[in-house]
Amino acid sequence: MQTRSLGSEGPSVSEIGFGGWAIGGDWGQQPDSQSTAALHAAIDRGINLIDTAAGYGEGHSEKIIAEVLAERSEDIFVATKTPPTSGPWPPSPYCRWQDRYSAAYLRDNVHQRLQNLKRDRIDLLQLHTWTAAWNDDPQPLLVLRQLKEQGKIGLIGVSAPEHDQSCVIQLMRDGLIDTVQVIFNLFQQEAASQILPVAAETGTGVLIRVALDEGSLTGKYGPDHEYPESDFRRKFFQGDRQSRTANRVAEIRCDLEQFGIDDQYSLADVALKFVLARPEVSSVLVGMRNTDQVEKNCRVSNRRDLNPEIIQHLHRHDWRRGVWYSGK
Ligand SMILES: NC(=O)c1ccc[n+]([C@@H]2O[C@H](COP(=O)([O-])OP(=O)(O)OC[C@H]3O[C@@H](n4cnc5c(N)ncnc54)[C@H](OP(=O)(O)O)[C@@H]3O)[C@@H](O)[C@H]2O)c1
Repeated sequence: MQTRSLGSEGPSVSEIGFGGWAIGGDWGQQPDSQSTAALHAAIDRGINLIDTAAGYGEGHSEKIIAEVLAERSEDIFVATKTPPTSGPWPPSPYCRWQDRYSAAYLRDNVHQRLQNLKRDRIDLLQLHTWTAAWNDDPQPLLVLRQLKEQGKIGLIGVSAPEHDQSCVIQLMRDGLIDTVQVIFNLFQQEAASQILPVAAETGTGVLIRVALDEGSLTGKYGPDHEYPESDFRRKFFQGDRQSRTANRVAEIRCDLEQFGIDDQYSLADVALKFVLARPEVSSVLVGMRNTDQVEKNCRVSNRRDLNPEIIQHLHRHDWRRGVWYSGK
């Protein structure tokens, strides 16, 4: 497993990180025994960065991670997230931080994260979402800075809202955050325009989420695929979204055939290598539900990088499909 620096202040982390959403819930059937085995397998293969959140199964993901880490001696960097109090998601331009991320709420929530993770310090505490409306008065981040000074958290991050990821640019330039978490994948390449370069310029660590587009970029889901009732993707890929996505996946496959690499790299391998081709990226947080997925995704790190010519060609798959969470 190759490692990279998590920004100028952060530690060295595995370039493939463990994304802990699905092991918390919302992705259909996910037995805890399978999640536990996946986490152990990931650590066995050199993963030393795990991303989770309060919201993944209301702390269930954090608790499973804590159980596994209690059985391990390795030094594992755990990143979690504090959500705003209930209200619009992402926060609307009219939300006040005083109502969504008050100082008292943040302190209490960080305390809960420490309890769930059974730790004295959170390695990286990320605000789970943000709005540009708070950029000029970013008090919640100053509260986190106090908690950092008190040793309750190691690094401070923001997970960018998918509808306006660029809102974190000002936070990076103002020196308010150590890391950002953003979507960057074969379909959604907008982060390449400014977020990644500004992260490099400011020494901000970059965690990439959804590199596999919630599984679609593995190529295993055809145009008529139906997700189980309890899988959030049933709604995410509702209506014609599944077929439109599958058609675009097929176009990527054609490119891989054209370059003659379709028998050497799986589509998922290419999706991860595409993200790792950016030097600004510290780690790709890949959601993994079982040991087979862990094995395949970890193997990607030591495989030969894709030829720059192929990467360049894959830029054409950038797809401005908008934000699906908020409906069509
Ligand atoms: N707002 C936020 O802050 C936010 C939002 C989303 C995600 N995240 C973080 O980013 C992480 C990654 O995103 P994600 O989990 O949503 O999506 P993702 O990484 O794009 O996709 C993960 C899914 O792809 C499938 N998969 C993974 N590896 C595979 C392989 N080698 N072969 C075939 N299928 C494979 C699995 O689902 P199936 O087997 O069921 O298809 C897995 O759950 C999350 O776990 C979470 O830590 C943060």
